[in-house]
Amino acid sequence: MNEFEQWVEEATAAFAAAHAPADLENAKARFLGKAGRVTEHLKALGRLAPEEKKARGALINAAKQRIEAALAARRDALAQAELEKQLAGEALDVTLPGRRRGEGSLHPITRARMRIESIFRSMGFDVADGPEIETDWYSFTALNNPENHPARSMQDTFYVDVKDAEGHWLNLRPHTSPMQIRYAQAHARRHAGRGTMPDIRVIAPGRTYRVDSDATHSPMFHQVEGLWLGEQVSFKDLKAMYLDFIKAFFETDDVKLRFRPSYFPFTEPSAEIDIMFESGPLEGRWLEVSGSGQVHPQVVRNMGLDPERVIGFAFGSGIDRLAVLRYGMSDLRPFFDGDVRFLAQFA
Ligand code: PHE
Repeated sequence: MNEFEQWVEEATAAFAAAHAPADLENAKARFLGKAGRVTEHLKALGRLAPEEKKARGALINAAKQRIEAALAARRDALAQAELEKQLAGEALDVTLPGRRRGEGSLHPITRARMRIESIFRSMGFDVADGPEIETDWYSFTALNNPENHPARSMQDTFYVDVKDAEGHWLNLRPHTSPMQIRYAQAHARRHAGRGTMPDIRVIAPGRTYRVDSDATHSPMFHQVEGLWLGEQVSFKDLKAMYLDFIKAFFETDDVKLRFRPSYFPFTEPSAEIDIMFESGPLEGRWLEVSGSGQVHPQVVRNMGLDPERVIGFAFGSGIDRLAVLRYGMSDLRPFFDGDVRFLAQFA
């Protein structure tokens, strides 16, 4: 093998050993660069006699061309390999099964609320919704709970930094009872001037707020208000209706109900409603689930109705409390922690 063949062979081997473009450029420099072997020999031609220069020059150039060709071939090979690697990385396996989008579910409190609504609807109650930011009048005064009355401190209320037309701070409603007034007023207006008025039967579920936070109290919680007013509505109706509701909600007939005397400014007499299961995990314990009472005559007047003609009862139950009992929980806070692992159990 002559000298030139040797160069070509060495260069081709060096190019083949290069697996990255930078290595290839280094190998190229060793042969074709300014100080590369081929270049050095071309420079050295100047010292030769013209005849010899011509012959040797031709041989060097021929070798140079072959080295350049080998370089170009290797460049193409590397570029092709790079492209193939990229294509393989981006390959799509169209036979793989698709990814499912995670399906959400209703919050357990929402489910409890919907359950309550459908039970009361089946008993002929309307379902009403009302504002969570209330005026002082609806939250307290109209409910026979005048300014500076000590009963106002039964609830530690959140106030809103805005005043109403009478100059009173607005509040985050501490109970759903304002809806008794709002709904009855609208009902009275709708039937004004007619001889008779159909009974008012409504529930108003929703969010309520109090400055209160422990295992059984959350600053934001849910209540469902109930109101049944008519010409002959009595505590007996409340008892029968509420017991039916409890049986339907907990899906058991093994439950008793009792009224325990209490005080609310807007009802007279007033009572707490306790329930006791006669079987199951909660068996044998009285559990408080609701405030209730006969609507106070002053409240009936504030609704725009005549307490000599209409009478009835109201109740306010804790939706979260009912849900805690139904799902057998000891703490209501997980309902509001927003941990999907907890919530997914109800899906
Ligand atoms: N609003 C009362 C409370 O939040 C409950 C209640 C409602 C009591 C209706 C009597 C009648 O504690």
